[in-house]
Amino acid sequence: RELEMFVDELPDMPRMRGYGVAEGGKLVAGNLTIGMYETMWKFHRDLRATRVFAYGTSKGTATVPGPTIEAMQGVPTYVTWTNHLPPRHFLPWDHTLTAATPGRGVPTVVHLHGGVQHSASDGHSLAWFTSGFSATGPHFSSPAYEYPNQQPPGNLWYHDHAMGLTRVNILAGLLGVYRVASPAEEAALNLPSGEAFDRNLVLFDRDFRADGSLFMNRTGNNPTVHPQWQPEYFGPVIVANGKAWPYLRVRRRRYRFRVLNASNARFYRLSLSDGLRFVHVASDSVYLARPVPTRAFLLAPSEIADVVVDFAESGNATAVVLRSDAPAPYPGDPGDKAETVPVMKFVIESDASMEPDTSSVPARLMAQYPKPDAREAAVTRRIAMYEYTKEGTDEPTHLYLNARSYMEPVTETPREGTSELWDVINLTDDNHPLHLHLALFVALEQRSLRRVDELRDCMMARGGGADACGLERHLAGGRRHVVPRQERGWKNVFKVRPGTVTRLLVRFRPLSPTESRRFPFDVTAGPGYVYHCHILDHEDNEMMRPMKIVR
Ligand code: C2O
Ligand code: CU
Repeated sequence: RELEMFVDELPDMPRMRGYGVAEGGKLVAGNLTIGMYETMWKFHRDLRATRVFAYGTSKGTATVPGPTIEAMQGVPTYVTWTNHLPPRHFLPWDHTLTAATPGRGVPTVVHLHGGVQHSASDGHSLAWFTSGFSATGPHFSSPAYEYPNQQPPGNLWYHDHAMGLTRVNILAGLLGVYRVASPAEEAALNLPSGEAFDRNLVLFDRDFRADGSLFMNRTGNNPTVHPQWQPEYFGPVIVANGKAWPYLRVRRRRYRFRVLNASNARFYRLSLSDGLRFVHVASDSVYLARPVPTRAFLLAPSEIADVVVDFAESGNATAVVLRSDAPAPYPGDPGDKAETVPVMKFVIESDASMEPDTSSVPARLMAQYPKPDAREAAVTRRIAMYEYTKEGTDEPTHLYLNARSYMEPVTETPREGTSELWDVINLTDDNHPLHLHLALFVALEQRSLRRVDELRDCMMARGGGADACGLERHLAGGRRHVVPRQERGWKNVFKVRPGTVTRLLVRFRPLSPTESRRFPFDVTAGPGYVYHCHILDHEDNEMMRPMKIVR
């Protein structure tokens, strides 16, 4: 039976302050304890409650997505993450992957995506822990994490990152929104604000059984290699803020939507009916220098688009539908036409007695961030993306960066205070959203390779050797892809198209508020950082590599 669309109202997740207020109104560090609980969640009016893993301050208040943490720039937030999950996972997972493997219990670890924090607080994949810390991974040190929030205001999110289990734990519900605010700077922008007009939209897709339970395949695409792993998880139901195809009542005025794609593998190409526009004000964790209007935009897993929509532009329409027409997997075969699927509906209410909209979108947002300068780059690295298939089939068995598994010794050792050029060579047929922890980058260019099959065969046979395989020759005359204007700012994830070389200028120093070359903590200490594809099924098998910052 098909679920009826637009019958549940879009929830706003509970908000938690990541700071305290002392006498006299002074802001002081916040201390939160957030647990992970197994609980039941109603994804739709007509669907029975679904077993989930959820973040919250208690089992009774845990939600999917978890609470929205509101942090203040420059004021640290301490979070103690606790695991109250049962001995067994309710979803299947694959013990043949390099994975957290306690005897019993569900391994979890929390990463703040977009956060600039000490690696001991970064949620390293091998810093996992089970219920009551009865088992811990080799890099576990303490469940008390410190987020300094010494970074630009913007949109972050927290989610599970346990080795080989990230796709399963996030699918189960372990994700939530985290904002870093800088009230003085942001008030001056005069964007739509307040809980009613400034909303998070967290999107993901899920597959449900008739009894309401989450469906995830138990058999892999290559079961003799990996009994359960499949290269991409897709579900037919689109969920926003924990409800399937919800609706939101809006007024004929401006709203700000911070749209996060928290799906395992699904891309969204979002547009609005009735010709409405999006005006982008920020992407990932940082504001844009100037607003960028679009009619449609593509959002890969883990990407964030922060947009203003003015429902006064809808003419007399009484409802506007947010929809997506991106194929899954993305980009799919050339010529494939994806169908347009609804995401949610905005019901426009007209009431003349409502107070006027005094918000606006300024011509300049946050222009003070440094411009990328390729001449600054101390090093040029090559990061090649490989997909391996079972002999004689097209069925993927695993994916590697630079032909190395995650556990092989670290090869990316950037120096603190420097910038680097990363030339990302995508030798696969998929678009991979590449994400770096700690660092921000700007995508300088993206060029198609000619005769990519030849280059792939050569590099796969050697496990590298881009030069020996004639990379430059394959690039000559290749098409240049325009980086969309809303993606030209500082980002922490970028969509690497198939058969292209994408040049990123990566900055291993803080962006602001100080222009310091040093991070406000010892960035070289602890277990280090990672970079990976944010298609979670790829990340888990093993499109992820360590990264160690040196001085
Ligand atoms: Cu959003 Cu390493 O993750
Ligand atoms: Cu990928």
